[in-house]
Amino acid sequence: MPNVDQGFCRQEQFRISRDLFDLTGKVAIVTGGSRGIGRAICLGLATFGADVVVLARDRVTGEDAAARVREKGTRSLFIQADVADIAETARAAERTRAEFGRLDILVNNAGIGAQEPAEKVTSAEWDAIIGVNLKGLFFMSQAAAKVMIDQGEGGRIINIASIFGIVGSELGASVYHASKGAVVNLTRALACEWAKYNILVNSIGPGFIVTDMTKAIQEMPVLAELLEKRHALGRFGCPEEIVGATVFLASRASTFVTGENLFVDGGYTAW
Ligand SMILES: NC(=O)c1ccc[n+]([C@@H]2O[C@H](COP(=O)([O-])OP(=O)(O)OC[C@H]3O[C@@H](n4cnc5c(N)ncnc54)[C@H](O)[C@@H]3O)[C@@H](O)[C@H]2O)c1
Repeated sequence: MPNVDQGFCRQEQFRISRDLFDLTGKVAIVTGGSRGIGRAICLGLATFGADVVVLARDRVTGEDAAARVREKGTRSLFIQADVADIAETARAAERTRAEFGRLDILVNNAGIGAQEPAEKVTSAEWDAIIGVNLKGLFFMSQAAAKVMIDQGEGGRIINIASIFGIVGSELGASVYHASKGAVVNLTRALACEWAKYNILVNSIGPGFIVTDMTKAIQEMPVLAELLEKRHALGRFGCPEEIVGATVFLASRASTFVTGENLFVDGGYTAW
């Protein structure tokens, strides 16, 4: 057991300095990085110095996000891939290593939802949501972890879960709830398994965020107001408000944090 006298906590990695959140020299993949929360995370990681691979299905918006990252002064690459396709996620991780020489951070942000009463959900709808939100996230993590394990320098995996990973709702989102609940506990399992490689695995649980995903709700004033009131702060969040937690979990500021689900939810789960 290391103790104070042996200088364990005086190691360079635990040094407190103004560059605690600096990501210079780190390489990140952000899935679903072309818009919404993912795009804000791409720009946020680049602001703190990381090179960023924007992984997304749509070329036009994906290339645009990569161009905006380069304006921050770091390298960026768009990789067109569907996270539900295991072979494509494996290729994306390998291509990142080939182009940028390494991979340090994976943000599993890609996700889909659907509004369908539980009694009407079809097997195809179940497979589609679980295929992206859970299976895609798992195999993208596996592909990234293989590169990180090979590098031998640890890594960070940050899963964008949801408040709906721990609370239910009446909104007809049962499969989404199931997928995000599984992400929260998968995060803990991977954190335990990959701790020996110093790969820290955490999730973030956003509240309602103003993106295309919540557009239909935003256009229903009565429902939007009801949901806003469920946040202690009385409003939806902005994609940029997820960036701080992501940078924290990607940086040297969180070397002793793993298996955690960090809510960024304006107090939705506080009461
Ligand atoms: N918006 C919210 O209120 C909210 C709340 C909690 C959690 N989240 C989660 O945050 C993440 C981002 O959501 P958002 O609000 O920015 O939504 P969004 O719909 O604007 O963005 C989702 C992104 O994921 C991408 N994507 C979807 N399926 C994909 C696939 N198979 N392969 C590759 N990319 C794929 C989309 O193209 C898009 O870029 C999701 O995981 C979502 O579940 C969102």
